[in-house]
Amino acid sequence: MRRVPRTLSQSSTSGGFLSVLTCLAILVILYSQISMWVSPVYKRRTVVHRDSDDDHVNIDMNITFLKAHCDDIYFKIHDQFSRQTHDATNHVYRQSVGSGCRMHMVYELKRITGEFIFTSKDNLTDMSHTIENAVVGDRHRYANTKAFHALKGVKLRDIGSSTHDYVLKLLETEFVDMMHDETANPYQYTFSYRPHILHSKKDGTAPSVPVHYIRFRYAWSPLKVEYIAEYNSMYDVVTNSIAYCGGLFTTVGVLHRAYMGGSAFIKDNMYKKL
Ligand SMILES: *[C@@H]1O[C@H](CO)[C@@H](O)[C@H](O)[C@H]1NC(C)=O
Ligand SMILES: *[C@@H]1O[C@H](CO)[C@@H](O)[C@H](O)[C@H]1NC(C)=O
Repeated sequence: MRRVPRTLSQSSTSGGFLSVLTCLAILVILYSQISMWVSPVYKRRTVVHRDSDDDHVNIDMNITFLKAHCDDIYFKIHDQFSRQTHDATNHVYRQSVGSGCRMHMVYELKRITGEFIFTSKDNLTDMSHTIENAVVGDRHRYANTKAFHALKGVKLRDIGSSTHDYVLKLLETEFVDMMHDETANPYQYTFSYRPHILHSKKDGTAPSVPVHYIRFRYAWSPLKVEYIAEYNSMYDVVTNSIAYCGGLFTTVGVLHRAYMGGSAFIKDNMYKKL
């Protein structure tokens, strides 16, 4: 019985293995091309924000005061262009929860430096609070990282009658999807926080303060990060797939032949030596 020459049988096993790998690679290529057709890839770029007349940005925040009655807390707002702090308590939905108060604040901030303040009526109110969430600007399904809700879950319990400052730095982020004619402008932000600890006066008496407050100062970055959705067209899917698969076949063929040639060469030389 004639035996199949060794190199030939070896060639067909390694060839079979390579075909399976190549088929898998083709499936991966097709999958990635088709998924870029169905859902977009976002290209990022940073631009300078251009001011427009109507630069109002929505802020939506839920904050719960743990030990303060709803009637004891006002909401005030003040920005660079307005002379005085104005009371915006009617922009806040207040709801008593146990011995505390949950506040849902929805407000349109002007895109200028300013501050909004939760302030007590007297200097006896305990300002301990937890922030459930705070979102600035639009919502978008990709705006889901911590940077878009940095204040979420911040808890300041047992702070008693002290006063606190948060400083927010806001960065506009724009998601543009021309195919579906959608744009959304959620804001990323960072915050820092500083308590005001009141030191006793020299004669040992406590300093007198009329009210307690939680103040949020905010500032806007002049930059804007844009994410532009890019889709593959059907034509891209077909041509890219053909190009990638063709390239893959050629490369695999060349490598396989090189490998077979190389191993045959080594074996021949080894047999010659023996
Ligand atoms: C705050 O709570 C209200 C419901 O009480 C909800 O509709 C809103 O989305 C919440 N805001 C945030 C920023 O989670
Ligand atoms: C609280 O306010 C009152 C006046 O409204 C003042 O007499 C008192 O000293 C203040 N107490 C503290 C601890 O600041």
